[in-house]
Amino acid sequence: MVSRRAVVTGASTGIGEATVRALRASGWDVVGVARREERLAALAAETGASAIACDLTDQDAVDALVAELDRSGPVHALVQVAGGARGTDSVADGSAADWQWMFDANVLSAQRLVAGLLPLLRRAAEEDGHADAVFVTSTAAQVAYPGGAGYNAAKAAESMLVKVLRQELNGEPIRVVEIAPGMVHTEEFTLNRLRGDSVAAESVYAGVEEPLLAEDVADVIVYALSAPRRVNLDLVTMRPVAQSAQHLLARGPLRPRGLGD
Ligand SMILES: NC(=O)c1ccc[n+]([C@@H]2O[C@H](COP(=O)([O-])OP(=O)(O)OC[C@H]3O[C@@H](n4cnc5c(N)ncnc54)[C@H](OP(=O)(O)O)[C@@H]3O)[C@@H](O)[C@H]2O)c1
Repeated sequence: MVSRRAVVTGASTGIGEATVRALRASGWDVVGVARREERLAALAAETGASAIACDLTDQDAVDALVAELDRSGPVHALVQVAGGARGTDSVADGSAADWQWMFDANVLSAQRLVAGLLPLLRRAAEEDGHADAVFVTSTAAQVAYPGGAGYNAAKAAESMLVKVLRQELNGEPIRVVEIAPGMVHTEEFTLNRLRGDSVAAESVYAGVEEPLLAEDVADVIVYALSAPRRVNLDLVTMRPVAQSAQHLLARGPLRPRGLGD
């Protein structure tokens, strides 16, 4: 049997990198996509994935990516992980450049990929019975918080794109899945958001017992892709146990209450 092939964006680090590893371990052919070529090459050498460097905010680069994917084989699954946050400014103090980057990286990149890859997904679905599109949004798409506005708005817009796409594909054997993680401790996400301030970035996770790991999100992505093809996980919201809600984050050890000391 020919392996199914997934395109995983954001593959150079964090959740995307973990997803490449997890899908390869599950027998998928994988094409990892991100801007940093050297990191992709190292991951490809280690896992047997392929890699294509691409800036998803550049339409010409996405057109070239789609052409290369079309030339090199079928695309049974798009896993759109690339994205991120810039800044924690208030609405009043927000930087238009940060907001534009967040909209471009999280929303327009997803739209560009869908526009480019849907014909390939349809062809794979025709030949193989079904195809999949998975998007990693965020709990920031669901709950507003002070300092979150640009990211809240971008992730909410990406989430709406996913919901619309699922309806537009009704009647086709193509699943459209949204995974919305809460706090995930990845190497770069908060560091980039806080403009490289490593002390401030680490303090975000300080004392939190077991934030989610990139591998936890990757596991859900693998499940979403390997579940029986009649099963569409519309929206999976996942948080660490220590984060009962966006604003309710326990710092310190998790312990049962009421048992005496
Ligand atoms: N970490 C969290 O707490 C958390 C929680 C909820 C949701 N999320 C979402 O989950 C996704 C991944 O999070 P993460 O923590 O793994 O983030 P991350 O470690 O910052 O990784 C972001 C990835 O996106 C890629 N990327 C960024 N801009 C790109 C562009 N213009 N073109 C191509 N690739 C680009 C980066 O690769 P290059 O720099 O090499 O291009 C990198 O591989 C993001 O969409 C994020 O919003 C994260």
